[in-house]
Amino acid sequence: MASQMSSAVDADLHRDRRRALLDALPTGSLVVMAAYSQKVRSKNIKYHFRQDNDFLYLTGFAEPDAYAVLYREDGDDTLILFCRPRDKDAEVSFGKRSGPQGAICDYGADDAFIIDEFEPKLLELLKGKTRIYVSDELNRLPNLWQLINRERFQTPFDVPKAYRQLSALASVLHPMRVIKSQAEIGLIRHAVNASIAGHKALMQAAAPGVNEGVLAATFMLEIAKHGCVDVGYPNIVAAGNNACCLHYEENCCTVNEGELILVDAGAEYGHYSADITRTFPATGRFTPAQRRIHNLVLAALDAAIARVRPGTRWNILYETCMEVMAKGLIELGLLQGSLDEVMKSESYKRFTVHKTGHWLGMDVHDVGPYQDGSGNWRALEPDMVFTIEPGIYIPADAMDVPSEYRGMGVRIEDDMLVTEDGCENLSAACPRSTDEIEAFMAGRITAG
Ligand code: GLY
Ligand code: MN
Ligand code: MN
Repeated sequence: MASQMSSAVDADLHRDRRRALLDALPTGSLVVMAAYSQKVRSKNIKYHFRQDNDFLYLTGFAEPDAYAVLYREDGDDTLILFCRPRDKDAEVSFGKRSGPQGAICDYGADDAFIIDEFEPKLLELLKGKTRIYVSDELNRLPNLWQLINRERFQTPFDVPKAYRQLSALASVLHPMRVIKSQAEIGLIRHAVNASIAGHKALMQAAAPGVNEGVLAATFMLEIAKHGCVDVGYPNIVAAGNNACCLHYEENCCTVNEGELILVDAGAEYGHYSADITRTFPATGRFTPAQRRIHNLVLAALDAAIARVRPGTRWNILYETCMEVMAKGLIELGLLQGSLDEVMKSESYKRFTVHKTGHWLGMDVHDVGPYQDGSGNWRALEPDMVFTIEPGIYIPADAMDVPSEYRGMGVRIEDDMLVTEDGCENLSAACPRSTDEIEAFMAGRITAG
């Protein structure tokens, strides 16, 4: 039998997370969560299953078609799991199921039932609970309002009826997920390091005449050698004008001489993702115009990184990137007007197109607010992890732009960890500057 990395679930870790959540909820709260279901690709072929991140974060339970209920009573925290029953035939075809007994033994559930028992048990569990927090992104739960109303209508008229308030669990849980534990940072670090190796292997394989798909497969092979069998999002390997589509995923074109290749690829490890972008020339040598645009994007990224420390507000990073790139685009003659005029009119957006970062974690675009309840941008805190990813995109049909700049997209994306007094660029070891990239690619051996 082939061996695999240990998949033992750390029940204590998930119990601690549930405790932190229940600490943050009012007395009398009940949390109801739905897992994702198994998606069909075609007929009896299923997509690879990946659990809902909130569900996994709190339970560690990675099987489809499950519910979880959490609550605290007299100081005791309780987790009840509802899952698929054991089924010998199904397990031979599609893999092991824990069943209720496994949910208790392996996942630390205080009680567990098959999923068909969910509705009647939930009705019992609702008794005395007035604040219901729901996590059900894909609308898997039976209609909770109907259940609650049914229970109210069935309550005798001379018994006090509970008026319940339904809230999104995300409003409490997602702000907690923004601050990473040391264990989570370790998983992200692993995903980032595997991705750096993947980007380097891909850069080594790049040359005119190679297909984008071969480069994407090179990334996948290398991250697998580092224990990562999946990515946090579809690989983007975009040569030339393809890079002007931000989420280009076809990865099917042959790379041409003289083109830049934009690669946005991040391995996933233990359900945590990296998210790194590098842009480099197919030949290994930047043209003067490509070098100017790349240097400008890197200058924007480095200016933003220099601002990353506790207390810096989130919007400062975007504003810093835009100011550097606007100034540079004016100097290159690609934007007209003074810096003040360009910043005021936001004419730079024609080339800079998108925002410059997001939280990073179990979701590549990880959950959690960027503003507080009053609309103020969030200040950075230690153990936040996020990307910074400025870009400049000049489509092939931008006929008012000098031809040497047309048909390229340059994005550079690093993964940042906020520390007590500054930050750590987790992806710094992936070649970043034009000089580093040229030196790194000069040593490659390609089939051409
Ligand atoms: N790879 C998706 C992003 O950079 O946001
Ligand atoms: Mn990103
Ligand atoms: Mn990315």
